[in-house]
Amino acid sequence: MSDTHVFEDIPLSREQVVNCSFSNWYWRYKSHVPKSRVIKPLPQSFMEYLGADGIVLPEDGHYEVEMGDGDGEYSDWSDEDGADKTDASKDQQKVFAQFQDVHDQIKQTIKEWGAVTPKLNWSAPRDATWILPSNTMKCTNASDVYLLLNASNYVMHDLAHAFDDVTTKEGDEIKETQTEFELVLRKWVNINPALEFRVFVKQNEIVGISQRDLNYYDFLKPLESTIRELVETFFDEVLRETFPDDDYVFDVYLPRPFDKTFLIDINPFARVTDSQLFTWHELSQLTPQDDYELRLVTEVNKGRFAVKEHTENQVPKDVVDASLDSNAMAELAKQWQELQMKAEK
Ligand SMILES: Nc1ncnc2c1ncn2[C@@H]1O[C@H](COP(=O)(O)OP(=O)(O)O)[C@@H](O)[C@H]1O
Ligand SMILES: [Mg+2]
Repeated sequence: MSDTHVFEDIPLSREQVVNCSFSNWYWRYKSHVPKSRVIKPLPQSFMEYLGADGIVLPEDGHYEVEMGDGDGEYSDWSDEDGADKTDASKDQQKVFAQFQDVHDQIKQTIKEWGAVTPKLNWSAPRDATWILPSNTMKCTNASDVYLLLNASNYVMHDLAHAFDDVTTKEGDEIKETQTEFELVLRKWVNINPALEFRVFVKQNEIVGISQRDLNYYDFLKPLESTIRELVETFFDEVLRETFPDDDYVFDVYLPRPFDKTFLIDINPFARVTDSQLFTWHELSQLTPQDDYELRLVTEVNKGRFAVKEHTENQVPKDVVDASLDSNAMAELAKQWQELQMKAEK
């Protein structure tokens, strides 16, 4: 939500950003986090691949993982590939050889777990689901992982701008180069977004809880006390004494029958983190002494949040640009089709 109030200074230190990097907290809270694997360090060639314009997909991204799909599609495509394989495409495939180890680990993890969802140190490619036929972040082959990562502005933010929002000198000795990039693969869980909540912690106390998905769900209201209880218990038993900062924002998933709390992510208590149904102005004013609010989208205010978050990021800039230029549009449609065919292969 955008703040209409005067800009409040909410400090953010380098240390806070580093503490929220996935592998810096995952090991401590592992039993509460959906099964995950961290691939780290990432070779320079992989980082360059992610940062490059355009998307090259591995030719083995799919069929090495899903064996015997038996519908004949694959052999059709592979024949065609073989027939017009150019030097350029061979060169492109060399890219993957440079980070063969990462590539193999992605394939191996998917083989073991069936499906994964990727993220880098801080961000998941939530803005790039449009690039997969399922319109989710569910990856059932390595190409899906590459498509999502390459198409996401959020992932690019991690790569190039992770420390841009730091406002204090605290933790300045932590150099950007010391923070290694990591690829996190999480085992795919069918999450019901209605039961995801964002919890704001200030001076080591909960100051607010918000629904994370901003749609109206009529079944949430009667669950208010359950949600508060689960979140408070989890905070007291797991995070309060152990997370290194006093101010942070954590995300939980509370699936029925409400006997387990899953920790999804930990984020800095700062404007870079979406304030959901609060505003950062409000959050900056709250004190831990007050009773905290649990905010849900209600029948009355649901219209206000009908616009999906990060809407501006859901259509890629290429598509917007191309829509103003018919040649570019045709070219884009062609590339798109090719990618989809490869991804489905
Ligand atoms: N293991 C998983 N399986 C399926 N979806 C997941 C899984 N972990 C997280 N998600 C979904 O991805 C969303 C974003 O994940 P999160 O780690 O919070 O990234 P970000 O900080 O970039 O938003 C979550 O809100 C959740 O809906
Ligand atoms: Mg996050």
